[in-house]
Amino acid sequence: MSYYSIIKGCGHYTPEQVIHNNDLAAIMPTSDEWIVDRTGIRERRYFEEGKDTVANMGARAARMAMEQAGVEAQQIDLIVFATITSEYYFPGSGVLLQRELGVPGIPAIDLKMQCSGFIYALSVADQFIRTGTYKTALVVGAEIQSNAVEFSERGRNMAVIFADGAGAVVLQATTSPEHRILSTHLHADGTHAEELYMRHPGSLQKQRLTHEMLDNGSLLPHMNGQAVFKHAVTRFAEVIDEALKANDCKPSDIDLLIPHQANLRISEYIREKLQLPEAKVFNNIQRYGNTTAASIPIALSEAVQAGKLKPGDLLCMAAFGSGFTWASALVRW
Ligand code: UT7
Repeated sequence: MSYYSIIKGCGHYTPEQVIHNNDLAAIMPTSDEWIVDRTGIRERRYFEEGKDTVANMGARAARMAMEQAGVEAQQIDLIVFATITSEYYFPGSGVLLQRELGVPGIPAIDLKMQCSGFIYALSVADQFIRTGTYKTALVVGAEIQSNAVEFSERGRNMAVIFADGAGAVVLQATTSPEHRILSTHLHADGTHAEELYMRHPGSLQKQRLTHEMLDNGSLLPHMNGQAVFKHAVTRFAEVIDEALKANDCKPSDIDLLIPHQANLRISEYIREKLQLPEAKVFNNIQRYGNTTAASIPIALSEAVQAGKLKPGDLLCMAAFGSGFTWASALVRW
């Protein structure tokens, strides 16, 4: 018997605290105009210390997805958690989410694949379901990044973009080939690892953390924005094309494209390249900024809530990010 995965439920959680561009302009040299022009972002959400954690935000998103799927936590037999901002250096957030949900014993896999994390996680869960190993998987992407950036001139290119949030989906095994994940496509090229990375505190040097690192800014994430942008537009287009070709589809067959919310200009570029009308591309970066592994599942959950997907629709999700990594998933809804 052939098994496939169906997305049975979607959920998201975003912290309550809304940070507008002008709030950032009040504490560092930037402006609403610069941020909107270059990124499309108008506001984002920041976590509240003592209330929001990566795992408990993931759990809130997961509970919403489980409710939509009509699935109890006890039915989940696999957790795949994508994040680059786990609470602890180790263990990862997967086991903490598992503890939050009260489902000890099942495997909890952590994936550190940056902005492509959610599609990588979806792919891993899909493979386990297709082999018949697991029946009901929770796939989560969650990040807290607002405490990794610096609100200063040297940190501003990252600080205006990256933000916090969580999204989740419940995948279930199905034998019906009609409504399912059709395929996933994963890629990486470590040649460019240092174009978007956070060097410290890592294992390269004898002392993981020094005062010098704090002073010289090397504890901050670093991005060569223009290099990332150039690779992103090429790889997004390639990996979407790969997904369409693998399933004998063409761009005009896409009913909804959910690109990783990296930059509204990147989304627009891809939309134009694929010649899709605006209504077929879902963007919410304007309200949430770039939430890395959480961006696609948050957008998917909001798209479902807004009634943007009906049974039989062709959904394409695609991502590009640090690593570099890039990935796509095609779903017959
Ligand atoms: O999600 C993972 C993948 N990430 C991406 O895909 C991000 C890809 N890259 C980008 O989205 C864009 O490169 C950025 C939005 C990060 C930057 O936009 P840009 O148009 O590439 O700007 P830039 O880095 O070339 O900087 C242009 C100017 C510089 O000033 P000068 O040298 O022209 O005087 C920067 O110092 O803008 C300055 N700048 C800022 N000004 C105001 C950089 N950040 C800011 C800021 N506010 N926040």
